[in-house]
Amino acid sequence: MDAAQLEISGMQPQDIEQVAALERRIFSMPWSVDGFLASLQSPDTLYLAVRDCGRVAAYCGMLQSFDEADITNVAVAPEYRGRGVGLRMLRELMTRGAGRGVRRYTLEVRRSNAAAIRLYEKLGFVSVGIRRNFYAKPQEDALIMWTAEDSYA
Ligand SMILES: CC(C)(COP(=O)(O)OP(=O)(O)OC[C@H]1O[C@@H](n2cnc3c(N)ncnc32)[C@H](O)[C@@H]1OP(=O)(O)O)[C@@H](O)C(=O)NCCC(=O)NCCS
Repeated sequence: MDAAQLEISGMQPQDIEQVAALERRIFSMPWSVDGFLASLQSPDTLYLAVRDCGRVAAYCGMLQSFDEADITNVAVAPEYRGRGVGLRMLRELMTRGAGRGVRRYTLEVRRSNAAAIRLYEKLGFVSVGIRRNFYAKPQEDALIMWTAEDSYA
């Protein structure tokens, strides 16, 4: 499988059952179907799904507030990891976000999540602080990361 062959497009309501199933496989505190649906319906969000022959292989999303956006969801199915899917998907999200006026991105990530932290650093995020015990199941600190202004303009 070549990551470049996967199709990236806006998440659709009909993707959400698959997205929520993937979410339950990956996260200890998964978002629900209703949570994704509500987010998708907001004009301030942008969600992308990566499909392999129609099946959702990865997804991500952001919540925009004026010229800043919080990347709220990032997940790649285990069988698609390590092939550049996450990087390509987030570049697409951030480029599309810049087209909607986003100048700076932020996110939180578990302190122990080395793979995600490396991915975010590759996209230009730097760690600016820590939120103590931000996560549960298991309890863990979050790193708060930001990009520089206009790095995706
Ligand atoms: C983090 C995650 C999204 C990465 O997706 P991916 O498609 O495997 O990542 P990519 O193949 O695009 O890798 C891009 C870069 O990320 C870093 N990276 C990815 N996986 C890594 C790993 N296991 N260890 C160290 N660095 C890693 C590398 O810098 C890599 O670049 P390189 O291949 O040139 O070294 C994926 O592992 C995942 O879904 N994890 C579970 C969910 C999660 O943690 N989401 C983030 C919540 S904040």
